[in-house]
Amino acid sequence: SPVEQAEYTWQSPSNIALVKYWGKKGDQLPANASLSFTLSQCVTTTTVIFGKRGSDRQNLQLFLDGEEQKAFGQKAFSFLDKIRGFQPFLQDYHIQIHTKNSFPHSSGIASSASGMSALALCCMSLEKELNGNVDSDFFYEKASFLARIGSGSASRSVYSKFAMWGQHHEYANGSDLYAIQVPEKEVHKDFHTFRDTILLIDQGKKSVSSTVGHSLLDKHPFRDERYQTANNNITELKHILEKGDIEAFGNLVEQEALMLHALMMSGPESFILMKPNTLAVIEKVRNWRTETGTQLFFTLDAGANVHLLYPESAEPIVLEFIQNELIVYCEDKNYICDNVGEGPQQ
Ligand code: PMV
Repeated sequence: SPVEQAEYTWQSPSNIALVKYWGKKGDQLPANASLSFTLSQCVTTTTVIFGKRGSDRQNLQLFLDGEEQKAFGQKAFSFLDKIRGFQPFLQDYHIQIHTKNSFPHSSGIASSASGMSALALCCMSLEKELNGNVDSDFFYEKASFLARIGSGSASRSVYSKFAMWGQHHEYANGSDLYAIQVPEKEVHKDFHTFRDTILLIDQGKKSVSSTVGHSLLDKHPFRDERYQTANNNITELKHILEKGDIEAFGNLVEQEALMLHALMMSGPESFILMKPNTLAVIEKVRNWRTETGTQLFFTLDAGANVHLLYPESAEPIVLEFIQNELIVYCEDKNYICDNVGEGPQQ
C-alpha cells in the first residue's frame, strides 16, 4: 500500500577512525580499508517528513536547529539525488529534513558521518515501510551503503562498537560498498568501554575539505606505500583488538594519525592541519605517559582537534590530567567526553 505521509527520526553518532580512510579509488570507493569505533555523545538527530506528491514539482527543505538552510541543504539534496537510483520511490515524495547536532556547529567536529548516516537511516525506514519485511541485517547494510555515498566515513556510523569499511583479506564479509561491524566477540572487553575525550583546539572551519584531501592522494609520491601500510595496519589492529593489547593499540593509532597529517604536509599541494596547540598537547601526552605509565594515547582527524583515547579504568586520572595540564590548549576550555557507543537509535 502506498505511504501517503510518513515521519521518521534517527539519532546517529559520529565515529573516530583508528586506521584512516584517506584516498579514494573511483567514485566514493576507498583506496584502503579503514576501521573505527562509533561514538556515543557526538550525534546528529534527524527527522525526515515524507509527503506523497502528485505531478507538482518536488519540494525539498532542510532545517538545521529549526532554521531553513538553503546552501547547507544543497549537500543533502545532491545526496538524495545520488541515492535515488537505489531508492526510486524517493522521487514520489516531498522531503522535509529537520536536523540538529549535539556538538557545537563550529567545533571542528565533522558532522558528515553522523549527519549522512542519520539521513540514510531515515530513507531506509521509508523503504522498510513500503516493502514490509526487511530484515535487520539488510536494513543496516543498505543504510551503510547509502550513507557511504554521502560521506565515506558515514558508512561506519550505522553500527555499534567497532566497524570496518573496505575489502580486506582479514574480513571475508568486508566490502568497498558498505561497512560491516567487527564481531563483538573479536574485540577484547577492555576496548568495549574505551574512552575518547576530544580536545577542541581550533573550532574554526576546516582548512581543507575531505573531498580535496582525498584527491591529494591521487598524485602523492607516497600513495602506494600508504595504501599498503593502511591495509597492513588493519591486519595488525584486528589481532590487537582480539588480544586486548592496549600498548600496541596506542602505538598503531598514533602512527596512523601522524601519517595522515604527514601525507597532507608532504603532498603535491601542502596543508598543515595541526595548530601549535595540537603539537603542545601531543608532547604533553607523551611525556606524561612516560612519567606515569598511564595508557593514554591520541588520534587526529583531518583537523587540529586531538582525540584522547584511553581505557575506562584510567578515566579519573586522565580527566584530572586534562583539567590540570591540557585545558589551557583548548579553545574556550572546550572538550567533549565521549566513549565507544551503541550505534544509532530510533
Ligand atoms: O568521510 P570523509 O570523506 O569526510 O572522510 C573522512 C576522512 C577521515 O575522517 C580523515 C578519516 C576517516 O576514516 O574517518
